[in-house]
Amino acid sequence: MINLGAMEEGPRTFELDGRDALSAEALRRFAHEAVDWMVDYMTEPGGDGPILSPKLTKDVFDLFREELPNEGSEPGAVFEEFREKIVPDATHLQSPGNFAYIPNSTGVIGVVADILTATMNQNVSLVRGGPTAAAVEAQVVGWLQSLLGYPKSGGGVLTSGGSLANLMGLALARHRAGAGDNLTFYFSEETHSSMDRALRFLGLPPEAVRRLPTDDEFRMSPEALEEAVKEDRARGKRPAAVAATAGTIGSGAVDPLEEIAGICERHGLWLHVDGAYGALSAAAESGAWMRSGLARTDSLSIDPHKWLFVPVGTSCLLVRDVDFMRRFFTAVPEYLKVSVTEGEIGQPMEHTMELSRRFRALRLWMSFKIYGARAVREKIEDHLRWTQLFASWVEAASGFELSAPVMTSTVCFRYVPPGVESEEALDRLNEELMERVNREPGLFVSRNRLRGRFTQRVCITHLRTTEEDIRRLWEAYQKLAVTL
Ligand SMILES: Cc1ncc(COP(=O)(O)O)c(C=O)c1O
Repeated sequence: MINLGAMEEGPRTFELDGRDALSAEALRRFAHEAVDWMVDYMTEPGGDGPILSPKLTKDVFDLFREELPNEGSEPGAVFEEFREKIVPDATHLQSPGNFAYIPNSTGVIGVVADILTATMNQNVSLVRGGPTAAAVEAQVVGWLQSLLGYPKSGGGVLTSGGSLANLMGLALARHRAGAGDNLTFYFSEETHSSMDRALRFLGLPPEAVRRLPTDDEFRMSPEALEEAVKEDRARGKRPAAVAATAGTIGSGAVDPLEEIAGICERHGLWLHVDGAYGALSAAAESGAWMRSGLARTDSLSIDPHKWLFVPVGTSCLLVRDVDFMRRFFTAVPEYLKVSVTEGEIGQPMEHTMELSRRFRALRLWMSFKIYGARAVREKIEDHLRWTQLFASWVEAASGFELSAPVMTSTVCFRYVPPGVESEEALDRLNEELMERVNREPGLFVSRNRLRGRFTQRVCITHLRTTEEDIRRLWEAYQKLAVTL
């Protein structure tokens, strides 16, 4: 057992001041209470209310308006306030009926790892800020490579989110292309907005993007890509990189990665794949077809916080050429210099644009060790199977239609009852249907437009979702559709 009590004996106070409320015993009670609450919350997040907070107005901000507290309070009283004011109006994303956006969910392992991470407060910028943390991160990145069959010769780094991983991937692509004007980047109509923002952050004008049409399955067309590259070259442009997607946010489509990789190789273009959402489906047997394409990318972003059951703030950028990455990110001022032997192992900050970084690898290290990769692969497999099942119900139901083929774990569909006079009316009807579903206890879905038309969007990546939850969702859709 951890002996916080020992801290009381010395001349130092345990926290900011020596009040009884902050004694080691009181803090231990506070921590235990929080952990007990955490486990209870995990069992029934949100109780029997809606997942989506009904307080989506500025009223919620009014709840917290107060002067900076000059004097401190009892930890127990503040914890009570957390339970009464913060929890009820949170969005209960940990609930198994969360099918919205890309459902984030974390297991207890990830949460406990986070407590330990914050406790040790390692700073994974230099190896000396946490040698074991740096080593664990290197190992976890290796495990992610192995999970997806990414080449062992590559490497990578954990990032705070997919957007940062995409930005770093695109920065590398741009650096590879060299200085000068007229650089051109190839996106598709379904490329995630983080890519557009990445280009902006890199100071590239909107004209630097050539946005390619997608095929009937919402995938980038390799023919259109090759034609565009040739045409742009002939016009004096400098094709630099392709940003393809493994699992679009819109419908979960996976671009034809192998064909696109072939084009990139022939034309000397960097291939970045935004696999933030969908690339992790390649961990499962039925997503394994994707692995050969992912292995040919120059850079690949993946988001464990979307589909590996760890807290938000855990993403990864994998790259094929680690030396190139290191050369790009390394800038060492005097105060960050290390000894020759430390220098030999490579510093975490040489792989990323962050400097101070938390020990985010612990969440994944503990999860992989406790769950085992087999259980993780099987859970993703379940998600893929249930997605197909849900899609089959939609397809078979009269009055509903699929809006896109299912390639990963997203189903886009519409309610199309007979007698609705226009597409606009169908859009309005579907938006209302989505809102009604979201008012149901324990259900949360989101929206999209495909080829301009509003669709329901159901995504299955949640750790706690079961087949029963999928059925519950479909029953709610059927029940609510007839009330419109
Ligand atoms: C395809 C895709 N790329 C990038 C992102 C951005 O990832 P993050 O929210 O982790 O920054 C998302 C988020 O949903 C996504 O679906």
